[in-house]
Amino acid sequence: MEINKLLNIVFPPLLIIALVFILPPFLVFKLLCSIQRFVYKENVAGKVVLITGASSGIGEHLAYEYARRGARLALVARRTDRLQKVAERARQMGSPDVIVITADVSKVEDCKRFVDKTVNHFGQLDHLVNNAGVGAVQSFKVTNNISDFVPVMDINFWGSVYGTHFAVPHLRKRRGKMIVMSSASAWLGLPKTSFYAASKAAQIGFYESLRIEVGPEIGITIVTPGFVESEMTRSNQQRKGKLQFLGNEPADVCAKAIVESTCRGDMYLTEPFWVRPLYLLKFLNFLKRTINIENLSGKVVLITGASSGIGEVLLWAMKHLAHEYANRGARLALAARREHRPRAVAEKASQLGSPDAIVVRVDVSKAEDCKQFVNKAVVKISRGIRGKIEKSVQSEISLKYHLHLQLSITVDHFGNVSDAASHFSQQLRPKFSE
Ligand SMILES: NC(=O)c1ccc[n+]([C@@H]2O[C@H](COP(=O)([O-])OP(=O)(O)OC[C@H]3O[C@@H](n4cnc5c(N)ncnc54)[C@H](OP(=O)(O)O)[C@@H]3O)[C@@H](O)[C@H]2O)c1
Repeated sequence: MEINKLLNIVFPPLLIIALVFILPPFLVFKLLCSIQRFVYKENVAGKVVLITGASSGIGEHLAYEYARRGARLALVARRTDRLQKVAERARQMGSPDVIVITADVSKVEDCKRFVDKTVNHFGQLDHLVNNAGVGAVQSFKVTNNISDFVPVMDINFWGSVYGTHFAVPHLRKRRGKMIVMSSASAWLGLPKTSFYAASKAAQIGFYESLRIEVGPEIGITIVTPGFVESEMTRSNQQRKGKLQFLGNEPADVCAKAIVESTCRGDMYLTEPFWVRPLYLLKFLNFLKRTINIENLSGKVVLITGASSGIGEVLLWAMKHLAHEYANRGARLALAARREHRPRAVAEKASQLGSPDAIVVRVDVSKAEDCKQFVNKAVVKISRGIRGKIEKSVQSEISLKYHLHLQLSITVDHFGNVSDAASHFSQQLRPKFSE
């Protein structure tokens, strides 16, 4: 039996048995550790803290919380006037020294500048707070210009990574700490938050990995807030998105919990705490998916990255994606940058039973290419339909990190041929036109 199949069967029950024995002593160990962290928590008086996105919301209140504890502050954001006001208040609250740096975190040169300026002014850096971020509430189905959402990734993900890159050598010298402001939406998958959730999930993936590289010299606290009162949650767009179904936590309460948690050296913080059990919803989703097994007959499946790696390996190994889809009567559209390789894959898929398999050359990192790919696939495959079509054509699209595109189209019944093609493409075209 193939090793991965064997592991699929053996590993989950072994893990459950191991957990039954390991979990109780582990929980006791965790409790003792948290007591120790509570007793020996860090005193930040006189330490240097750099906060991005300090001009409003959680970042502003983080500045006040650190100021109350006597930390020296470097406050970063794009609105200088707002930063000046926050700085003034932070001084009144007890910070011995506060500087303001106007910068855009999505620009790498700005991030280098604010780290350098902080270290030149204070001579050290103890905490970096990667807080700057923007919200994005938009139903993917009604998104016309997909490139409008690239800045969400640039600010929320790259805006944290750039500053981290320049700060790490300084934090290392001081055995410092880093706060990463992710979001509960990275785990929960709420409607209309696909772009935002992707940027926040990318942060988690990045910093989980970095933690292993830079620890134990630099501690990383990943924060996943639920709904917190701020400009972001107050914005009209959010209201339209009807995401305020629950009371927002005040930003000062959230900021206090974050600084406490960081000083204790926690690896994670979910604030407010009650949001954390909601992560179990992911498990319920898995159950739902297991119950509703999809019938693929007559559907069109788009596979990106079909020229090498998993797409092709799985095909030729006869345990593959395309083979599995072909066996279930699905039509295939294969996309890759090298056209000749997926062509061989398509031929094989046809031999294996796919009623139709086409190949499109595409670079999935380019939105325009993706649009052409989807249009070409829909038009070509719909022209090829022989049989009958009746009424319903549905489409469902999901886009992750604007790199992975997946489209599934359901044609319930087939009717007259020529109507079929035009009906099919007309129904879908507007969804992709700008
Ligand atoms: N509020 C919530 O419910 C919630 C939940 C989960 C996670 N979060 C996260 O918490 C963080 C803070 O958000 P918030 O709720 O306090 O929202 P907010 O009040 O809108 O604050 C966002 C801050 O980020 C700054 N910023 C945005 N784009 C920037 C850029 N390109 N360069 C530099 N600074 C930039 C803004 O300042 P300027 O406009 O002056 O540049 C502002 O200070 C964000 O990362 C957000 O994703 C918030």
